[in-house]
Amino acid sequence: MDDKIDTLVKESRVIQPTARTKAAAHIQDYDLAYKASIADPEGFWSTVAKELEWFSPWNRVLEWNYPWAKWFVGATCNIAYNCLDRHANTWRRNKVAVMWVGENDEERIFTYGELFRQVNRCANALKALGLQKGDRVTIYLPKIPEQVIAMLACARIGVIHSVVYSGFSAPALASRIQDAESRVIITADVGYDRGKTIHLKRVVDDAVRSCPSVEKVVVVRREAPGIALAAPKEIDWVEWLKEQNVVCPAEPLDSETPLYILYTSGTTGKPKGVVHVHGGYMVGTYITTKYVFDLKEEDVYFCVADPGWVTGHSYIVYGPLLNGATILMAEGKPDYPNPGRWWDLIERYGVSIFYTTPTAIRLLMKYGEDWPKKYDLSTLRILGSVGEPINPEAWEWFHRVTGSDKPIMDTWWQTETGSILITPLPSVPLKPGSATRPFLGIEADVVDKEGKSLPSNAGGFAVIKKPWPSMMRTIYKDPDRYKVYWNTIPNCYTAGDVCRKDHDGYMWFMGRADDVIKVAGNRIGTAEVESALVSHEAVAEAAVIGKPHRTAGEAIKAFVILKQGHQDSKALVQSLKDQVLKELGKIAVPQEIDIVSSLPKTRSGKIMRRVLKAKELGQDVGDISTLED
Ligand code: WTA
Repeated sequence: MDDKIDTLVKESRVIQPTARTKAAAHIQDYDLAYKASIADPEGFWSTVAKELEWFSPWNRVLEWNYPWAKWFVGATCNIAYNCLDRHANTWRRNKVAVMWVGENDEERIFTYGELFRQVNRCANALKALGLQKGDRVTIYLPKIPEQVIAMLACARIGVIHSVVYSGFSAPALASRIQDAESRVIITADVGYDRGKTIHLKRVVDDAVRSCPSVEKVVVVRREAPGIALAAPKEIDWVEWLKEQNVVCPAEPLDSETPLYILYTSGTTGKPKGVVHVHGGYMVGTYITTKYVFDLKEEDVYFCVADPGWVTGHSYIVYGPLLNGATILMAEGKPDYPNPGRWWDLIERYGVSIFYTTPTAIRLLMKYGEDWPKKYDLSTLRILGSVGEPINPEAWEWFHRVTGSDKPIMDTWWQTETGSILITPLPSVPLKPGSATRPFLGIEADVVDKEGKSLPSNAGGFAVIKKPWPSMMRTIYKDPDRYKVYWNTIPNCYTAGDVCRKDHDGYMWFMGRADDVIKVAGNRIGTAEVESALVSHEAVAEAAVIGKPHRTAGEAIKAFVILKQGHQDSKALVQSLKDQVLKELGKIAVPQEIDIVSSLPKTRSGKIMRRVLKAKELGQDVGDISTLED
């Protein structure tokens, strides 16, 4: 990262909330609420926490031993209890919790009562396998209701879930199972992707061969006739649950009990196992879902994420269920079977809150406005965007095709932060392209390397200055990697993003400051792709950069040096791509691969990716005094 970060300051529109939006908003006056929350953050968070149920109270809101935080110290709770029992014990028992639509339009609907029973069955089934508090279960499922059921069942008995996105290939899955030392894998025979059948169980078979910790593989069978299972290690999901009791009391857990591990890409080849806990995470996801989306009892909430990523964890499963919301969950892509897919679902299910991604919006933009125009989108009330900066052009399009009167919540956060940190609220004036301002209780700033606050519009590093309840507690088995977040810039949490703050305090995120690439909103570490390439027999060295891409935000470009005796050819480039597909999965495959004879390096031998990138984009390469060659 260069010392100076240039930004193109553009004049931008300010969009005021409509009278209707403003009148409905939970938080009517952001400035007032924000000031009060910052004057006494612990008071603010404990007031929020009291909206949820605890089995026993905390004696301290926060214990902060830099950089280690504990929230709601001494209390006992259970996030699954708050997602289910808290509603199933009231009139919400018969309220719809989850409406699920498969890619082939199959439909399954769960009330809070039914979801409660399924989760209890699954929790009892896990117990019957001998699983105990603290054990790990890997969930490798497509976007089907069993994913939600399995996550909540683990949480209910204090088992730690590790959900792995079902697009990852066998070696990537295996390394995540090995790191977590999971005893059980829950998977499905198949997933569907744009009409194609993806054989997930085969990937699991490949992966578990190198995972000695795995005792059982539970399989949700979607296809008929059901695939053969090798008893006693492999179990059919339906058989597994059938005999189980529908009562399984939620385990009272210390608030700091780990809830899940979620692997995410960083700057080294090894993915980081981000650890979140029951108490603080529950408070953060609950209140952000409520305030940011202005969630009301009668809303129909549709978040298009996959539970394999953090957005699925926090804003399909935990946040909405903590609020007793009705959730639409849809398998499949926005343009299959046609680009009207999501607009059709919005009309069919009367969706009022729609949370999506800039990549999906840009994809739908390409198909034109006739698609959204075909459908009745009048039920929509609040829109959301997450995962990468949304360019003003895509923002304007999304706003226009949905009727020009629904506010777009451009929410900035990370796997590590657990819940949304920088965001508008529905009552706040919007500037297209800006994630706006910090959520209540969150102190954010833009600083230089030394932690000095920068003046308006100067580009710098986005930091969070105080701990917050839903922050990650550690990196699984790697506390030193956790400490890096709090030790990079003195006295604050460094997000790894570059940003500027305008004169109104609005934050404009500009992308990552490190070697993480955001392809269609998915985090890919350059080091992971490089090591996949180097595992190919023809490759001596590889360097990977992110390059701007019209739809996906960024695309992966690789530069590869071949070993002696290997020649550049179309077939070779294809086999390099296949290697990345095999090692990591489709999302990590480089769009372009250049065979080169040397790579820019520092004297100490580190590849200077920023030089490659600047050259690729035809920009000034900047200070190259440390460049060796
Ligand atoms: C980026 C996804 C700009 C950012 C929830 C961050 C964003 C990384 C936004 C985390 C946004 C996420 N505007 N950039 N609204 N939201 N990002 O862990 O670079 O998959 O550091 O979490 O996504 O990605 P992750």
